[in-house]
Amino acid sequence: MLHAVTQALRIKKPVAMSRSSQRAFSDSGSSTTSTQPFVKLHNGLLMPQLGLGTWQAEPGIVKEAVKSALRIGYRHFDCAADYQNEREVGQGLREGMAELGLKRSDIWVTSKLWNTSHRPDLVKVACEQSLHDLGLDYLDLYLMHWPVDQIPEEGPKVGGDPTATETPLWETFDAMHELVTDGLARSIGVSNFSVRELEELIKDTDLIPVVNQIEMHPYLIQSKLLDFCASKSIAITAYCPLGRAQVPKGANFPALLDNPVVKTIAEKRGKTPAQVAIRWSLQRDAIVIPKSVNEERLKENWEVFDFVLDESDMNQLNGLNRGYRFVRPSFHDFKDEIEGDGRL
Ligand SMILES: NC(=O)c1ccc[n+]([C@@H]2O[C@H](COP(=O)([O-])OP(=O)(O)OC[C@H]3O[C@@H](n4cnc5c(N)ncnc54)[C@H](OP(=O)(O)O)[C@@H]3O)[C@@H](O)[C@H]2O)c1
Repeated sequence: MLHAVTQALRIKKPVAMSRSSQRAFSDSGSSTTSTQPFVKLHNGLLMPQLGLGTWQAEPGIVKEAVKSALRIGYRHFDCAADYQNEREVGQGLREGMAELGLKRSDIWVTSKLWNTSHRPDLVKVACEQSLHDLGLDYLDLYLMHWPVDQIPEEGPKVGGDPTATETPLWETFDAMHELVTDGLARSIGVSNFSVRELEELIKDTDLIPVVNQIEMHPYLIQSKLLDFCASKSIAITAYCPLGRAQVPKGANFPALLDNPVVKTIAEKRGKTPAQVAIRWSLQRDAIVIPKSVNEERLKENWEVFDFVLDESDMNQLNGLNRGYRFVRPSFHDFKDEIEGDGRL
């Protein structure tokens, strides 16, 4: 089934804009984000390349973290209905923007459609709920959180064939596209999509997502998926860019931030392991969304535009690939897409 192709959804390859080609995010003059680069999406929108993740940022804490992030210079916020904190994120945005005199157009807000709202008649309702919770009139980007449809009444489908769904992915994405027409979202994209799922979506809808948000860090370098997305002008957003600052479960290698290779490069560059990990993603032209609710770490994660990793650094970091995923929900099966460039 082919659907009307929106010109705005099929422009060019995403381009990471160098600092020399940066411009203010809006024309308001009130933005202080001029020190960070943007990625030009294929619909022409400029997406700030560094954003704040908000998963597992406790409702009671995240409001202050969002305000701190705004003061530091963050202008991109990665949210989701599933994180159950959009109301507090929205409060932080409102209070922080008022304090700094920012306009809505000075910030970029992403939210995500949860798996239980894939049915076309639920898509707009879910988006409106996120907008209501965030206290916004529109989203800059709305993502299909997972290529998995879950029946609301049944809850998570544990096991089984994840492709045996009630609503085909194309129908959901088509309904999401109407949100752009309705002015509720400026762009639509996907998250956790494999090459196969992207190919099917594009074939079925003739619509190309602007972004695929995926897990990416030096333990999961995702080279094939990056190449495929580049070939289709789909920008990548890297989640878990710090390897969750956790020791990988069931694996015999250290937390990414404790990895000797990362630490050695950090020492050589006079930066921290977290800054090296973020910089590695930025230099792969990915949009990066590290999460922190700690003011010092928010600042640390922002100080990544004053140094460069050279080819040797990048190669050494790429060499850490283990094909390791920190995020493996029971409702999704990644087994058919393990890449040849890394295994546990
Ligand atoms: N689309 C999806 O399915 C999906 C899945 C997962 C995540 N995401 C998005 O991606 C974002 C980032 O991923 P993530 O939160 O899973 O992992 P992450 O950003 O790799 O790591 C977050 C963890 O690192 C800690 N941390 C932050 N900065 C640090 C630093 N400089 N040094 C040491 N530790 C540091 C944080 O603790 P503190 O807060 O205490 O600093 C937190 O425990 C999420 O918040 C969410 O917005 C999307």
